[in-house]
Amino acid sequence: MSRASRASQPRRLVALDGAARAAAPGKVWLVGAGPGDPELLTLKAARLIAAAGVIVHDGLVSPEILAMAAPDARLIDVAKRKNRHTLPQHDINRLLVAFALQGLDVVRLKGGDPFIFGRGGEELEECRAAGVACEVVPGVTAALAASAGAGAPLTHRGLAQAVTFVTGHAAHGEPDLDWDHLARANQTVVIYMGLTTAGLIAERLMNAGRDAATPALIVVNASRADEARYPTTLGQLAATAEGLSGPALLIVGEAMGLASILSREGEGDHAEPGGEGSAGLAGNTGIQDGTARVSAGPSTMLRMVPLPATRRGKAQS
Ligand SMILES: C[S@@+](CC[C@H](N)C(=O)[O-])C[C@H]1O[C@@H](n2cnc3c(N)ncnc32)[C@H](O)[C@@H]1O
Repeated sequence: MSRASRASQPRRLVALDGAARAAAPGKVWLVGAGPGDPELLTLKAARLIAAAGVIVHDGLVSPEILAMAAPDARLIDVAKRKNRHTLPQHDINRLLVAFALQGLDVVRLKGGDPFIFGRGGEELEECRAAGVACEVVPGVTAALAASAGAGAPLTHRGLAQAVTFVTGHAAHGEPDLDWDHLARANQTVVIYMGLTTAGLIAERLMNAGRDAATPALIVVNASRADEARYPTTLGQLAATAEGLSGPALLIVGEAMGLASILSREGEGDHAEPGGEGSAGLAGNTGIQDGTARVSAGPSTMLRMVPLPATRRGKAQS
């Protein structure tokens, strides 16, 4: 039977609630799978994945990492996807507990870090309430991979004295954030789940006083082979985000202006700063306006990829 067909239907699994309790309950491991590149897994995560009999995973866990599971491991996809009926968080919590009460050890594998916008805290609470042992294994959160890949530090002497991770998504309307605080200069704001709210976020930050010329960076699929980076500015953030898809981070802050220079050094690109074919310094090449993207897989050199005319048009509008 193929791995895909082995991924059980959530509805059937929730029926485990009625199954007999084992004399000794199993354990739930909340494991961070990192941003996608398997080499960014912790050793502990890799060991647990390889040994697991049951893995309950998110959609953000990369296929390469799922392939590290044992051939007979049971993989259960509980991905939350737009426009698709998925298992509500409450049922995922119950599912983990139900497996453990049956005596099974379960790896709950989550993209990035389980406690950074991962709802790992809710799963941990459910386990605690049921008396099920639960251990958390941290993972590399997407912001760290995006920043590292771009060579744009989240904190940097003189440019970023603080970094704040915020969500661009809220269950009911706009995220409740302290815009005045986030609008202060010389700090980095990383926005998770912000592609569709990029315009609103940029507007709120600028209305609160953040300069429209503040460098910004959008990173899609950080650490994966198809990672793409879009250097831009706060004022152009919404236009740059338009039409992009996939897991993406918006990063706003003065230090994002360092992205291209440090990336070149880090990845061995010999182009001169701002020279032809290079990502260049913000202000030299126009890429901060979202007119081009910088595409770089984990082990490839930076290269400029002109955007199709339609995206260029949108970016400049
Ligand atoms: C539900 S949050 C989970 C975050 C995760 N727990 C972490 O620590 O990275 C999902 C959001 O994380 C961001 N994200 C996760 N993986 C990413 C990646 N490889 N590249 C860019 N953004 C990513 C995106 O903003 C995505 O919408």
